[in-house]
Amino acid sequence: MSDQAASLRSTLGVDPANVLPAVAITGGKGGVGKTVIAVNLALMLVRLGVKPLLVDFDLGLANADVLLNIDANRTLADVVAGEATLEQTVVTTPSGLGFVPAASGRDELTRLGATALRRVLASVGRLAANYDLAIIDTAAGIGSEVMTTLAACRTSLIVTTPDPTALADAYALIKVLERDKPGCDLRVVINCANHQDEALATFAKLKKVVATYLSRDLVLAATIPRDRLVSDAVRARRPFVTANAPTDNPAMTALRALAMRMKGERWK
Ligand SMILES: Nc1ncnc2c1ncn2[C@@H]1O[C@H](COP(=O)(O)OP(=O)(O)OP(=O)(O)O)[C@@H](O)[C@H]1O
Ligand SMILES: [Mg+2]
Repeated sequence: MSDQAASLRSTLGVDPANVLPAVAITGGKGGVGKTVIAVNLALMLVRLGVKPLLVDFDLGLANADVLLNIDANRTLADVVAGEATLEQTVVTTPSGLGFVPAASGRDELTRLGATALRRVLASVGRLAANYDLAIIDTAAGIGSEVMTTLAACRTSLIVTTPDPTALADAYALIKVLERDKPGCDLRVVINCANHQDEALATFAKLKKVVATYLSRDLVLAATIPRDRLVSDAVRARRPFVTANAPTDNPAMTALRALAMRMKGERWK
């Protein structure tokens, strides 16, 4: 067990692999679609009758609230400052999604010590017990806050685009995660491919490198095509999964398939 995992165990008194009934949305590179996917996946799960808790864990540059068009009164920053409980930060969106906002521009959150971070993660775990699962949007990179968060979540969903730089960063993240938490539940989303062949070829490339150098298998969770519905919704400051959005649209169809698999397999 890595130092990080061992330390998580000693702080929380539990096996790190089973701390949070949570799916972390991560990916290494910035701008690959982690937040868009986290927000809309959570909303899609609500539409399928699942009760997820969406947690913005991009601690320095939070923006899930922007995509949800929510002005948060209280955020994780208030929890860390001891001015609010985690329960008090939960916003319920009109569609019934429970959401914990983080703060943007509060850089003290990115300098949380490991123990304080694990305490916040433990509170998220306790809160998540009231939900079917938690969806945790992480920051880009392989910094210690991201890796500590991934170590605490039962599943990591690695988002990458076909860009070589995004693939290289996804590989780097998988390498560090595999070192910290060997054999962990890790699945891949190929986002923003121009067509399905490109998405599948991208996944095959990543799978081959991971098999060759890390001797582990990779599971493809979903391919979400580049779609104007997604970028237009972001610009309009709203999710693309809405009650009146077209249901036969490519990104929507792909996301619904992922959400249905999560529901059917009871990911936690
Ligand atoms: N499937 C898609 N089709 C079209 N555009 C997309 C798609 N996915 C993401 N985008 C675009 O990519 C942009 C970045 O997405 P997002 O903010 O979710 O990335 P991120 O990985 O969370 O970035 P950061 O690392 O900065 O948090 C969005 O504003 C959106 O315009
Ligand atoms: Mg983001």
